[in-house]
Amino acid sequence: MEVIVHQSYEEMSRAAAQAVAEVLNAKPNAILGMATGSTPLGVYQELVRMHQRGELDFSQVTTFNLDEYVGLPTNHPQSYHFFMHENFFKHVNIPPQNVHIPSGTTSNYRAFCDWYEKRITECGGIDVQILGIGSDGHIAFNEPASSLSSRTRLKTLARQTIEDNARFFESRDQVPVYAITMGVGTILQARQILLLANGAKKAEAVAAAVEGPVTSMITASALQMHPDATVYVDEPAASMLKMREYYDWIQQHKPAAPKV
Ligand code: PGA
Repeated sequence: MEVIVHQSYEEMSRAAAQAVAEVLNAKPNAILGMATGSTPLGVYQELVRMHQRGELDFSQVTTFNLDEYVGLPTNHPQSYHFFMHENFFKHVNIPPQNVHIPSGTTSNYRAFCDWYEKRITECGGIDVQILGIGSDGHIAFNEPASSLSSRTRLKTLARQTIEDNARFFESRDQVPVYAITMGVGTILQARQILLLANGAKKAEAVAAAVEGPVTSMITASALQMHPDATVYVDEPAASMLKMREYYDWIQQHKPAAPKV
């Protein structure tokens, strides 16, 4: 894993957006894996800015979102469908038929999950996956004890996640208890992964994911097994990393490193 510590949330977001832009410049019909939550908002804003300046074209892009709450209709303000439309899709030129977000209202979850997995494969697999991390170390809604080879499925949210996400709802009782989520195994198949974290509340999860043992108790730790995962963090989120000095040393020496 490459760990890059940034001075601010804005700088972190710009760097991750730049990485996505590089993928798109090399492959205009790339498959993007999208995440929701407060963390990737800055990346989406930066990608929208690049698009508005005419630097980035999304007309051939296909997207797959990580997860969705069960039971929320797509027009519910807290649904991830709504979030993605408001914060990203309505500002860029991705053809609507190329957008995939798990359904939180299907009548057959098992069939939907199988279809979602099949659709990712049919499209050629995810080129770059954006990820946040939960304070319990989850990626997407793969809560502690999720199999590290899990696929898209229905998942019961952990109490911690419900509490963390209650800030977006009027009350804690309104946070759905179930979600549909890509599995850890699904995520690990993305060719490139960008994990983002900001704020001190994420420091423990980040340290466990990057420097702790690979364990289903911290599903983000499975990214240690991925050949191309980069961790973008701000200073507070990096504050519990033991090898911080080495990560900075690597970045410092990167420009002069032999080209591979
Ligand atoms: P957040 O959520 O970006 O809103 O902190 C991250 C996550 O739960 O994956």
